[in-house]
Amino acid sequence: MTKLKVAILISGRGSNMGALARAAMDPDYPVEIVLVVSNRPNVAGLDLAIEHGLTVRVIDHTEYDTRRAHEAAVNEALEAVGTELVCLAGYMRILEEEFVNSWKGRLINIHPSLLPAFRGVDTHERALEKGVRIHGCSAHFVTAELDGGPIIAQAAVPITPGDTAQTLAERVLDAEHMLYPHVVALIATRKIRWAGQSVAHAREVGVKDLAFMLPLPGQN
Ligand code: GAR
Repeated sequence: MTKLKVAILISGRGSNMGALARAAMDPDYPVEIVLVVSNRPNVAGLDLAIEHGLTVRVIDHTEYDTRRAHEAAVNEALEAVGTELVCLAGYMRILEEEFVNSWKGRLINIHPSLLPAFRGVDTHERALEKGVRIHGCSAHFVTAELDGGPIIAQAAVPITPGDTAQTLAERVLDAEHMLYPHVVALIATRKIRWAGQSVAHAREVGVKDLAFMLPLPGQN
């Protein structure tokens, strides 16, 4: 099996990177993780990546004068290892249009809300504030518009009375860890691809590949 060469960009804890690394331990998973890049030194995600035997690079944004120069260095590192798909996994920097355009259709993100609701940060706090009853996470292609690219797949997480931002974040994170490796496999097996403003699917891709509903508490 030819495996898709995937690089992962992180800024912190790296649990979504860990979920991808665990998936990639399965010899049948169609992905090889060729690089993990962190824009911050000394983050937990770097230790986790090393534990998984992955190649890591710290490309510290504070060492560059401009965002553009930092991203050029990231780009060079990605190109050097033959990256075919870039996965943002808690990468907490807005990317310049030049970087996004050069990876168009080959750059995805996992976001902790049901997009297009709650773009940006503090999604769980804002979901609770608004009183929505269903929250979740989305995997999407990245465009220059923040959290605005074509949605690939989503997982819905019910909000329970008594939820705090933390309890909700934990349940959404579990959903992210299921959704992201699944979506990366769909791309690696060419079942899903970027089609400009939308996402094209192979004929065999059905709702069960794209829309997940986490059970209501007490129903699992
Ligand atoms: C995840 O919840 C991810 O969806 C979110 O940050 C967290 C990173 O956790 N990403 C964003 O908010 C990007 N806009 P992790 O470092 O443990 O994967």
